[in-house]
Amino acid sequence: MSHDVGKVPFKNPGWAGNTGEFDLTEAQVRGDDFVGERPKHGGHASGAGTLPYMLADKSPEAPLFEGEYKQRFDKILTRYPTKRAALLPALALAQEIRGHVSPESMDRVAELLELSPAYVRGVATFYTMYNKAPVGRYLVQVCTNISCNLCGADEVLATFLRYTDTEIGETSEDGNFMVVEAECLAACGFPTCVQINSRYYENVTPAEVQKIVEHLKAQGD
Ligand code: FES
Repeated sequence: MSHDVGKVPFKNPGWAGNTGEFDLTEAQVRGDDFVGERPKHGGHASGAGTLPYMLADKSPEAPLFEGEYKQRFDKILTRYPTKRAALLPALALAQEIRGHVSPESMDRVAELLELSPAYVRGVATFYTMYNKAPVGRYLVQVCTNISCNLCGADEVLATFLRYTDTEIGETSEDGNFMVVEAECLAACGFPTCVQINSRYYENVTPAEVQKIVEHLKAQGD
């Protein structure tokens, strides 16, 4: 299965310089190129939500923390003074593998980090960034907060729903898409901002939604 999607039909304006974590080029960050595979070594164990990776190969049934992911998990532990301190990135890794953090995943994380299941559930359910139920292969989060809203986010949201033939929070029949509203994605200078899996699309207008959706559909397995 390949997620090398070639050129995206979109160009992000933001470029804050190479952080050095994944050795991304400016072209990759802007969207001229596309990095389909997250580096297996997990260069930055907690950075899953901040880099332009398309984590579309998640599987709700995938084994947790085995093989390469066991190495990633172990690496996370080395970065924190206590197991408890590693809880957030451990949950993020579970979500990266399965696409959501199920009660079973929470319990497994609790076991591995020697925490009570209740504590882990309390943390996991506090943060909206952890999906508590399966989502579409592409989770489309449209920012409808003030800056984006003033620039037409509602119409962008409605257009995504139309082209994916879904209601808010509903997975499309083909399993490809779930569209939700998001609070401020911290890209207020580039409204409307849309986060699709871990990748930001900025300055999105309704006119561009169709080609984004078609581009994603064309990536099939
Ligand atoms: S209001 Fe949309 S990114 Fe801040």
